[in-house]
Amino acid sequence: MERRLLDAALARALDLAEHGPLAGGNPRVGCVILDTAGGPLAEGWHRGAGTAHAEAAALAAVPAASRHRLTGAVAVVTLEPCRHTGHTPPCAAALDEAGVAAVIYAVADPHPVAAGGAAWLAAHGVTTLDAARAGLDPALVDRAHELLHPWTTAVRRGRPWLIGKTATSLDGRVAAADGTSRWITGPDARAHAHVVRAGVDAIVVGTGTVLADDPALTARGPDGRPAPHQPVRVVIGHRDVPDTARVRSGPGEWLHLRTHDLGAVLAELDRRGLRRVLLEGGPALLSAALRRGLVDELHAYVAPVLLGAGPGAVGDLGITTIADAARWRTRRTEQLGPDLLLVATAARPTTPGDPTTNRRATAPADPTTSRRATARARTATSPHPTTQGAA
Ligand SMILES: NC(=O)c1ccc[n+]([C@@H]2O[C@H](COP(=O)([O-])OP(=O)(O)OC[C@H]3O[C@@H](n4cnc5c(N)ncnc54)[C@H](OP(=O)(O)O)[C@@H]3O)[C@@H](O)[C@H]2O)c1
Repeated sequence: MERRLLDAALARALDLAEHGPLAGGNPRVGCVILDTAGGPLAEGWHRGAGTAHAEAAALAAVPAASRHRLTGAVAVVTLEPCRHTGHTPPCAAALDEAGVAAVIYAVADPHPVAAGGAAWLAAHGVTTLDAARAGLDPALVDRAHELLHPWTTAVRRGRPWLIGKTATSLDGRVAAADGTSRWITGPDARAHAHVVRAGVDAIVVGTGTVLADDPALTARGPDGRPAPHQPVRVVIGHRDVPDTARVRSGPGEWLHLRTHDLGAVLAELDRRGLRRVLLEGGPALLSAALRRGLVDELHAYVAPVLLGAGPGAVGDLGITTIADAARWRTRRTEQLGPDLLLVATAARPTTPGDPTTNRRATAPADPTTSRRATARARTATSPHPTTQGAA
């Protein structure tokens, strides 16, 4: 099949994946199925935990009258199809049973339980290719890795992707000298912060922030109404959370973990399936997390306000000279009314799955051609053939 058709299918699958929810513990995945002539047959995306995976959604979208066109079809997926039975049956088996001859996926699944779909499909005679090795557009492959990076990183490491948030004055302060901090940033920045809250699984603060600000830690719309998804609210520290604290009364769950061990906190959140976590604490907590290298992404809201005194966003990180400065990689900037948002990620050495890793590969002549694909397209026969496809 022509590579431009596969590239277009991957681009579309990525657009679909972006419809998926950020929160909820599951990856954002899109799938496009092409018939033997390269025409779009169906598409789908994963709408969150407990709902059909992207491949199953795409298969279900094929009208009954067109199901014969699945024989010899090519599925282009942003994430390797799963091979396990969770809330839903394995996608690898569903694709095979439907008669799909080739599966191209952009990102390998690191999940210890769900991974292995590609090997399973290959063992069942389905041509199964990593998109980079198949010679698809490297920019699209990079986009897929970027999209899934927080999720794949969280799964691989066994701890959530941690986003640190600060709202500071131009001179880097998070509160005035008397401890008051409401409001440094304007309504647009605060509304944006609520959108971010609605896309995380948990919000973490220290007891210091609860006692100083009494935040509700809920995700709310501009009209003040709670967003449909509410993150778990987590307070850490030994001091008591007052009975009247607003954090106790919002919708959904809240937790008080009486510890200073941030590794243990993240392990507990991971155990609960919480993969995207927002750290909204004050300087004590953020500094502790930064010192331990636990922060993956920073959201810095900066207001054109000067305070001159008051606590800085981050305390001592043990850096004594400019050569040792912790330098971050700017991902994007955004103007929000009078304020600015800078999103940055930790500049660490590249690892497998890091969007900056070079994945360019030599392209085969036609990535979807194999004995199995040809046979399937020509004969439209057994759903369980035994021929080994290209790995
Ligand atoms: N502008 C902003 O973005 C922003 C955001 C949040 C807060 N603030 C401001 O920051 C101030 C509060 O600062 P803060 O630093 O006290 O708040 P914090 O970091 O949220 O809370 C600090 C408390 O967290 C507990 N804790 C848990 N694990 C810890 C660890 N590993 N290291 C250190 N402490 C740990 C400790 O409480 P125990 O003593 O109970 O163990 C500690 O006193 C307020 O003025 C608030 O308005 C500003």
